[in-house]
Amino acid sequence: MKAAVLYELSTPLQVEEVDLDNPKSKEVRVKITANGVCHSDYSIIHGVIRSPLPVVPGHEGAGIVEEVGPDVTMVQPGDHVVLSFAPYCGHCYYCAQGSPVLCVNMRTIMGKGALLDGTCRLSKNGQKIHHAAGLSSYAEYAVVPEIACVKIPHEVPLDKACLVGCGVMTGVGAAINTAAVRPGTSAVVIGCGGVGLNVIQGCALAGASIIIAVDLMDNKLEYAKEFGATHTVNPARDDLTKTVRSLTDGRGSDYAFEVIGLGKTIEQAYACTRQGGSTIVVGAPAREETVTIPAFSLLNEKKIQGSVYGSSRPHVDMPRLIELYMNNKLKLDELVTRTYSLDEVNDAMTALEKGEVARSVVVM
Ligand code: APR
Ligand code: ZN
Ligand code: ZN
Repeated sequence: MKAAVLYELSTPLQVEEVDLDNPKSKEVRVKITANGVCHSDYSIIHGVIRSPLPVVPGHEGAGIVEEVGPDVTMVQPGDHVVLSFAPYCGHCYYCAQGSPVLCVNMRTIMGKGALLDGTCRLSKNGQKIHHAAGLSSYAEYAVVPEIACVKIPHEVPLDKACLVGCGVMTGVGAAINTAAVRPGTSAVVIGCGGVGLNVIQGCALAGASIIIAVDLMDNKLEYAKEFGATHTVNPARDDLTKTVRSLTDGRGSDYAFEVIGLGKTIEQAYACTRQGGSTIVVGAPAREETVTIPAFSLLNEKKIQGSVYGSSRPHVDMPRLIELYMNNKLKLDELVTRTYSLDEVNDAMTALEKGEVARSVVVM
């Protein structure tokens, strides 16, 4: 089968024939039909998010189950699925208390670039190729743990549903799960890419009345309005904290989301947050990135909280997001600025880098 392989950091993906082993116990083979192009893939390619090499990136996929391995009970061939990059064991401390994205048994294994038994199904001429996020969905097929499959109805278009696999769940979930945004409140969202736009639409869904979108690119601010931003700020032109205060009776916002992954913009989000308010960090920073805040400001009961995968319970939250989409209450179509073939995946990365798209989707 064809897959996009990263052999060396900061080099183009090689779209080529690779071998894919059959699914083992509790694994399934999924025919990938579409895969969204997320900044985290770009971060893997450039070493900001670390992965053993070679690796096939891709973690925002959807497709059709083709074959199930032994002991599989959750899905069967023909099922349409969104792929979750957060498999969970269901019985560790974190799973038991309702935070499967923190599952202690799965997270350590996933970072090693393998599937849950520690081995890889991908190879080329006998050379091992690693999995990204347990999915590696820049490929025609993927062998994934059955717990990574979230079944969705057949009538849902898979080239839109794939977006729920990362950007939509991460963004909307940060607003409605992590921050639990309340109706009538104010929110600042710094970074209006594929994930940030979903934080914005999550805040709108939750009933925030002031949503201030922040980005250095004006085209992103235009997208932001479409997704529910009530105000926009380009910090290259306008003073961010001043504008936020002027829109919030001088207080600062109830919530401020950082959706880029930079220490500097996390500090900006914190500065925009009112006393007792919450700064939510959604962006995935490089390991060496740090944040400096005035310690005395904690006396104002300000909170900083990280958010991973929208604090989701994938098998509960993703079907709900799909249901909202099918009822015209969640925008997915509007996220897809462009589609590409797998052969054009490097062009999709360039478009992401240049900020030309809200999201692009690789359609197999
Ligand atoms: N100030 C304001 N906006 C900025 C700045 C900055 N200093 N730097 C970058 N941006 C904007 C870009 O213009 C772009 O619109 O941040 C946005 C990032 O969007 P994408 O590249 O589409 O990234 P996305 O896929 O949304 O991911 C954002 O979330 O899941 C994580 O790893 C992912 O850290 C990444 C973040
Ligand atoms: Zn992603
Ligand atoms: Zn667990």
